[in-house]
Amino acid sequence: MNEAYLERKASLMEFSHLSPDEAFDSFHKRISHYESIYEPLSKERNLILVDSFEGCILQEQISDVIPYHDRIRDIITTRIVSNLFLLRHGETYFNLEDRIGGDSDLTEKGLSQARALAEYFAGVPIPIIFTSNYKRTLQTAAAIAEKQHECSIIALPEFNEIHAGLCEGMTYKEIREKMPHVANARNRNKFSYVYPMGEGYATMEKRVHRGLHKVFYLSNYNDNIMIVGHRAVNRMILSDFVFRPKEEVPYIYMPQNRYYHLQIDHYKKHFELKSFMRGAEANLPA
Ligand code: F6P
Repeated sequence: MNEAYLERKASLMEFSHLSPDEAFDSFHKRISHYESIYEPLSKERNLILVDSFEGCILQEQISDVIPYHDRIRDIITTRIVSNLFLLRHGETYFNLEDRIGGDSDLTEKGLSQARALAEYFAGVPIPIIFTSNYKRTLQTAAAIAEKQHECSIIALPEFNEIHAGLCEGMTYKEIREKMPHVANARNRNKFSYVYPMGEGYATMEKRVHRGLHKVFYLSNYNDNIMIVGHRAVNRMILSDFVFRPKEEVPYIYMPQNRYYHLQIDHYKKHFELKSFMRGAEANLPA
């Protein structure tokens, strides 16, 4: 066994009444005891081997009829999420022109959406806001963080918006007119389509998933988690929790004047699209 690991173990509180040598010795005795009583898992009649980080089953071998077996599988693979607030950044100058990609700033309306979000979440402690590297998510998060007591912003490149390659900075109309093959192919299969020199939903899947792992690694179990992302990225994040057929994922509704609230435990998976604007604006489509 790794020496550094043994040293770390031997320095735990439970060994504090012993000298380092005695602690080492006591820990070695404990390991020998475990070895003497160990029974290899392969002898088990019923076994479920779980990757708890990925929330998936690696090996399953069930010989008996186990009551509530499906429920048990479900419980051990469910990731508990107390509150996950999934937001899209406020309106940008690119959004105004229906232009995709780029690194545009928020417009006046976008800044006012960010301020409305800040007011709305002011009473909800958010220790960390996760964003992409783009200004629009950082500016939205900065406004929210300002109204928080203690809040850090962590930008993850994994949450950068889908890269449209040669089409970055173009409007959807320009793509239809100048690159009709792109528009048509994307229309036919939006999930699998990959922009020339860019990305597609399918090719983003792994990195967004990696970003989510970072989020959970950096957050505590009970923390309120907030992600300020983008339209395509947020669709991928949502689909990680709420099963949707792949071909439907690129069409999930992802407005800028509402956010998704997710709560997941062993008994329920709850997700709700909520408005953070007050008055008439709350009901406007975005
Ligand atoms: O228009 C905003 C935007 O985030 C673009 O940067 C991105 O290319 C697009 O939305 C993703 O949405 P869709 O996949 O529906 O084109």
